[in-house]
Amino acid sequence: MAIVNKSFVFGVAVSDYNFTGRKEEIRQLETNFKYGINTILISPRRWGKTSLVKYVCNHLNDDNVITVVLDIFGCKTEYEFYNALASAVLQQTATKPQYWFEEAKDFLSRLVPSISISPEPNSSFSISLGITPKTHSPEEILNLVETIAQKRQRRIVVCIDEFQQIGEFQDSRSIQARLRSVWQHQELTSYCLFGSKRHLMSSIFLDKSMPFYQFGMLMWLNKIPTADWSSYIIEHFNNGNRSIPLDIADSISTSVEGYSSYVQQLAWILYTHTREGESATKELLDLSLEELIQTNEILFMQQIEPLSAYQMNLLKAISAGHHNGFSEKKLRSEYDLGSPANIVRIRKALIERDLIYQEQSCLMITDPVFKLWFRKKWR
Ligand SMILES: Nc1ncnc2c1ncn2[C@@H]1O[C@H](COP(=O)(O)OP(=O)(O)O)[C@@H](O)[C@H]1O
Ligand SMILES: [Mg+2]
Repeated sequence: MAIVNKSFVFGVAVSDYNFTGRKEEIRQLETNFKYGINTILISPRRWGKTSLVKYVCNHLNDDNVITVVLDIFGCKTEYEFYNALASAVLQQTATKPQYWFEEAKDFLSRLVPSISISPEPNSSFSISLGITPKTHSPEEILNLVETIAQKRQRRIVVCIDEFQQIGEFQDSRSIQARLRSVWQHQELTSYCLFGSKRHLMSSIFLDKSMPFYQFGMLMWLNKIPTADWSSYIIEHFNNGNRSIPLDIADSISTSVEGYSSYVQQLAWILYTHTREGESATKELLDLSLEELIQTNEILFMQQIEPLSAYQMNLLKAISAGHHNGFSEKKLRSEYDLGSPANIVRIRKALIERDLIYQEQSCLMITDPVFKLWFRKKWR
């Protein structure tokens, strides 16, 4: 029996059958990759950055460009980053992938590789090349990719996922300065740096006094439009011998505010509740949304557990529909928010936890399903 496609996928980067929309973003990234333009891609978590970048890398039909993708979420120090960078570059640019380590010796000496079981759930083991401050200088590692590009006479695009992690390193500012000063002189190498946690990404890329200010083209990833979602959902229901009316398909994405992973998760739940040969209904959608909130409850509980009473109060105010004017007396006393100075502190803490974000002067709840859950719980 043939393996069947999964109708809907969430929680991991998606490709091909489970990928929809993003035509304009794909075109833009492809252009940047071909011409060696540095790109910075920012969006909240699970909107589709990783899927988009991988999609572009896999479909880039250009023999003159090699793409390298790495995820530095697990890197806690500068040298962990260099090990991850060097091994990704060496492995993914090798002419014979299975002999990458033999080739690696031509580019870097003094390598002491070891394999370690990684604590990260997505990669079962990782290779460390044994790069330390004693064996290699940062510049030597940072220049490696350009050396390879020159030797192969190809462009190389290095795509670094969860780049905001760099902002958490000790002495981050001087590390950033080091990276930028090497990277900006490279001719055949360009970078696509992407990540979430907007406050961290913003502090790296939007602050005039920081090294990465104006490093490249800034792209704020938008939501995938409802129309793209609906045609995807309808097609996948049909492929599974089920049907779904357009207005219900539309409601799937609008009820989770177009938040990509939730659209897929909600579509999947509704799909499982719709019998083969039958059509999805409004009642089943309501039930599915309820189930979506329920399945995420444990995660949401974990997120609010460490919050102070004041922080909870600000969340309550926002989820009740107040988005600004918190320093006014009426709101402060209605929600017991303390002094204006206190509000500044609570706001900062909630933004750092990514529970809320600021848009112009408005405070918004980041996660739409969290918002639905929170409202029900603390109405
Ligand atoms: N272009 C897309 N088409 C369909 N689903 C998508 C798309 N982009 C993201 N998703 C959904 O969102 C989830 C998270 O995507 P991911 O690329 O991991 O986001 P991010 O890297 O921004 O956290 C995926 O598992 C998938 O369910
Ligand atoms: Mg990602």
